Amino acid sequence: MTPYSREWDSSAYHRLSGPQLSWGKKVLARVKLHGDETLLDAGCGTGRLTADLLEALPHGRVIAVDLSQNMLRTAREHLAPRFGDRVLWVNADLQALPFKRAFDGIFSTASFHWVLDHDKLFRSLYGALRPGGWLRAQCGGGPNLERLRKRAAALAASPKYSPFLGGYAEPWTYSDAETAAERLRRAGFVAVDTGLEPALTVFEEAGKYSEFVRTVILHRHLERIPDAGLRDEFLEELTRQAAADDPPYSLDYWRLNLSADMP
Ligand SMILES: C[S@@+](CC[C@H](N)C(=O)[O-])C[C@H]1O[C@@H](n2cnc3c(N)ncnc32)[C@H](O)[C@@H]1O
Repeated sequence: MTPYSREWDSSAYHRLSGPQLSWGKKVLARVKLHGDETLLDAGCGTGRLTADLLEALPHGRVIAVDLSQNMLRTAREHLAPRFGDRVLWVNADLQALPFKRAFDGIFSTASFHWVLDHDKLFRSLYGALRPGGWLRAQCGGGPNLERLRKRAAALAASPKYSPFLGGYAEPWTYSDAETAAERLRRAGFVAVDTGLEPALTVFEEAGKYSEFVRTVILHRHLERIPDAGLRDEFLEELTRQAAADDPPYSLDYWRLNLSADMP
């Protein structure tokens, strides 16, 4: 059994990923494009930002890569009618990309923290770029979701859940800006610029908070709990705790911005 599954509830992610979409749009707004580039969207998910990239590239192409077949299927359904063969969907691991010197630039949002070996990831991305190419990305970093993660870890260690989650290592890596910069330089990148920014995200009510946490954050934890009732109780407990936060039902997101070039 692999330690982590690759799949997502992609229709729910498509509907719920408003926060990721708004962060990603801000990252894209900072990217300078000529309009004819060949770009990689690394960890494209359901393609909401791939669509924005394609809009910004009237004479270019996007290769959209993701590990999840569900994500790629949903993305293809939404984007193929609009963009035809200007977008290619590829099921691959970002740590071992099947491309060499193929891209003018790499764009990625909300994905790198799901990839556990960042040295391997950055070497793979570097190898896929053409000389003079660039990487502009954002992912979770630093103290991302610390409050929720501490609560989930405490619950996981409790007698009720420890048979399923005891000793379970988190499926994410949240590096700080300095470590990320060192790793990018080690992979060969130059003009490296990294930094963290807070992105507190507030939900209107318990149901919305809980649905988001279930689909977007703790799905890997939950899939280890075999009983549906117990999975619901795990989420209900976290949601009860979030009701007492200031503001209630908020997630303490932190984003790590990564900008680097290939010489
Ligand atoms: C939170 S989603 C972000 C999707 C999209 N970029 C967005 O901003 O909405 C993270 C995506 O990264 C993908 N992913 C995680 N690990 C990956 C890997 N090693 N290789 C390729 N894709 C990966 C997941 O399958 C998922 O679609």
